[in-house]
Amino acid sequence: MYKLGLIGHPIGHSMSPWIHEKLMEQQGIEGKYELLEIQPDEFGEKVNLLKEKGLDGFNVTVPYKEKIIPYLDGLDESARHLGAVNTVHHTDQGWIGYNTDGRGFVHSLKNRFPDIFHNNAKALLLGSGGAARGIFEALTRSNIARVDIANRTIKRAEDLIQDIPSKAYSSPLTLEQAKNTLMDYDLIVQTTTVGMNPDHDKMIVSLDHLTKGTVVSDIVYRPMKTKFLNEAEKRGARLHFGHEMLLQQAVYAFQIWTDTEPESSLLLNEFEQKLK
Ligand code: ATR
Repeated sequence: MYKLGLIGHPIGHSMSPWIHEKLMEQQGIEGKYELLEIQPDEFGEKVNLLKEKGLDGFNVTVPYKEKIIPYLDGLDESARHLGAVNTVHHTDQGWIGYNTDGRGFVHSLKNRFPDIFHNNAKALLLGSGGAARGIFEALTRSNIARVDIANRTIKRAEDLIQDIPSKAYSSPLTLEQAKNTLMDYDLIVQTTTVGMNPDHDKMIVSLDHLTKGTVVSDIVYRPMKTKFLNEAEKRGARLHFGHEMLLQQAVYAFQIWTDTEPESSLLLNEFEQKLK
């Protein structure tokens, strides 16, 4: 009987319980995945109580992905590079922190568009927050030659490139520069909350210079098809959706906890229906 859960605030609308219960069902595993909401002023106290709950593992979401680190006994390489954890596994060596966000993104993208993973490929990330960091770390580990980053505040794009060890070549750009050079990229990834409900009529940059066949990804999954993706589709782009990443990062967490290999594609249609 696995005891799993999610800590964060607020987490009432999280899709994680649904996903993990479906994965348990698929793998014939018995267990429970609970929402463990923690108020910011009670974080230290509640995290210490978690240790007594006998959890096998848990996910960590906003605003605790960094704050959890001092309570852990070890980190995997991605979590160490990023200074952020989204999955904790209870092992004989204690609580070990992982970050499966970027890996989830890359895996779901590679499944659909293997052709863009070659050593002349160029990617552009829009945004420099926590999500951009995870995606940057994982993308630059794959054989993509260049991963540029555009952000409203260019200093944060510069800091991101400096902070995260990478073998790809990267330049920081303003959003204006990015907008005018969209045609240079094989992959464009929108990593900010711009376009998320209720601001579904907003776009981070206009896509006037986008060329046909470019892969355009948006990590926002509510709405499932953002205005950014809609406009990209009108210009002949190939689309990658936020819910594909969401599902795959959960599958990686589930693998870490249960040592099984669930198949995310079996769940994708049902997940899409659930999000509609
Ligand atoms: P998280 O860590 O959860 O991803 P964050 O650190 O607040 O969140 O990052 C949010 C990202 O969205 C940032 O890249 C932010 O740009 P700034 O660094 O300039 O703040 C970007 N962002 C948020 N609102 C935006 C807007 N209206 N226009 C452009 N970028 C925006």
